[in-house]
Amino acid sequence: MIAVSYFGLGHVGLTSAVCLAYRGFKVIGFDVDLSKVETINAGKPPFYEPKVEELLSVGLNRGLFHCTVDPTEAVQNSDVTFITVGTPSDPEGNINLDQVKESAKQIGKALKVKSKYHLVVVRSTVLPGTTENIVKPLIEEYSEKKCGNEFGLCFNPEFLREGSAVNDVFNPDRIIIGEFDRQSGDILEKLYIEFYAGDVPPTIRTNLVNAELIKYANNAFLAMKVSFINMIANLCQKLPGADVEIVAKGIGLDKRIGPHFLKAGAGWGGSCFRKDLEALLNFGLKNNVELPLIEATLKVNAIQPFRLIDMTKEIIGNLRGRKVSVLGLAFKPETDDMRDAVSIKVVKKLLDEGAKVSVYDPKALENAKKIFGNQVEYAKSIEECIAGSECAIIVTEWDEFRKLTPDIYIKLMRIPAVVDGRRIYNVEDFVTKLRFAAVGYGQMKYYNPALAVNAIICSDGRVLLVKRNIEPFKGLWSLPGGFVEHDETVEETLVREVEEETGLKVKPHRLVGVFSSPLRSPIKQVITICYECTILSGELRACGENTEVKFFALDDIPQLAFDHGKILRDYISATFDEERKE
Ligand code: UGA
Repeated sequence: MIAVSYFGLGHVGLTSAVCLAYRGFKVIGFDVDLSKVETINAGKPPFYEPKVEELLSVGLNRGLFHCTVDPTEAVQNSDVTFITVGTPSDPEGNINLDQVKESAKQIGKALKVKSKYHLVVVRSTVLPGTTENIVKPLIEEYSEKKCGNEFGLCFNPEFLREGSAVNDVFNPDRIIIGEFDRQSGDILEKLYIEFYAGDVPPTIRTNLVNAELIKYANNAFLAMKVSFINMIANLCQKLPGADVEIVAKGIGLDKRIGPHFLKAGAGWGGSCFRKDLEALLNFGLKNNVELPLIEATLKVNAIQPFRLIDMTKEIIGNLRGRKVSVLGLAFKPETDDMRDAVSIKVVKKLLDEGAKVSVYDPKALENAKKIFGNQVEYAKSIEECIAGSECAIIVTEWDEFRKLTPDIYIKLMRIPAVVDGRRIYNVEDFVTKLRFAAVGYGQMKYYNPALAVNAIICSDGRVLLVKRNIEPFKGLWSLPGGFVEHDETVEETLVREVEEETGLKVKPHRLVGVFSSPLRSPIKQVITICYECTILSGELRACGENTEVKFFALDDIPQLAFDHGKILRDYISATFDEERKE
């Protein structure tokens, strides 16, 4: 079997290495970071990625995998070296090749003292031309050997997704081999034939530059798909009844479009997309080629996280002094990675707006502490995070958040309000029970304030109340009245509603007050106008099977619906308290 070494033990390097060792390959990992090497050799991956810890311990126990800080040891004891170091961006969005160059030099030096042929495979994402024009000359210079004769060279892009990287190594859609020459490609293909043992994924063999461009085009297209559906989501939100989930399903069934990567949300994050798109954009500029779709993809994504803040304000109003809970911090589920995570923008904006922020994430809390310091409260559980809060925002779609029902939110929160930034909840279920907004769900109609009018009817020092046994009033007494119809005046509505509910014809004679009553209905902002009324005529009777009407003595007023209790208490103390004292 071919022996393999990896230069760079980040997500891609370590995950691939332990998968190869698991399939019986002899694998050596090299990294310049001694503490990382020691941690890995002790069986602990330096990041969270499902299954990696398990596979690492298999590799270590079978003696098939170990790590070193000695590059020569790694090259000497392998036939193929993968370069899997980071290619971060500089502040202008250009790709920083320092680690790739350093690896090429180290490999070159090691090859100088190696007699056997060796294959070098660049797997870090690098711009078209880099393998040929930067990596190759450096290896040649430091090894004093000629590429093609004494060593081979390939570019072999990776398409691993964090959170499912192990599965992606074992089941890739395809393998792309960019080869300097035939011999180099043959060796790499042989390695994959051995690894996939009879079930080799579709393989494309091409030159270096195509393979390098495939990686960028691939990430750019994926990011563009997500930005596209987020753009449509923003439009849906302005159209009552529109739902991006249905639109995405509809277009996804067109085979030319496909169903994947059409999940609207708070925007894409992670270590790759923005870095790669910015690098590609700059690369285009240097080559005098405009790439307007890449520009638009970045632009849509830069503002998408702030949609969650707008939605929060739409359902709970001003954020100053309000307690807001952020559920999910990692850039996607099943990782602790917060690089370029949407949550960073969301939390910072909430803090700017004066909100008190509590955060929870099953895996990313430690990384979050490095970013937010003591500006937020770190909760140890979902319950702790949302307790007493006035709005919960779903920023990352961890499975444990899906289990939360409206009742749990209602029970724990001060104001049950949820912004679903990842479309994990059944909209119908939530929208009727609490204040709710979801990305791409057009429910603007619920935010239109409704105008209600209520009557306080007094007779012999008693007050008339109504019980309607329908949701959301069920079992509770309230003041007679209802929502103002748009072709009526407030007083017309009042007279009509009171007569329909109680059989009494009344006359409003004194305005008691105008109240903003957010708790009157969980899905509408309600303004209530309240009048004291006198009875003109009619006989008290309940109208409809589900209604009761009754006069109550001031001291016996039962539990009232919503904030009618406050209206009534204020009215009674202003009108009767003095009298009663006398
Ligand atoms: C991405 C690519 O998917 C990999 O193929 C590639 O190898 C990798 O970048 C890389 O260049 O190294 P990754 O960033 O780990 O992988 O994660 P993705 O699953 O692609 O998710 C990226 C972001 O897009 C996440 O924030 C995710 O929440 C978001 N996303 C994804 C959506 O908002 N909607 C979707 O439909 C899909």
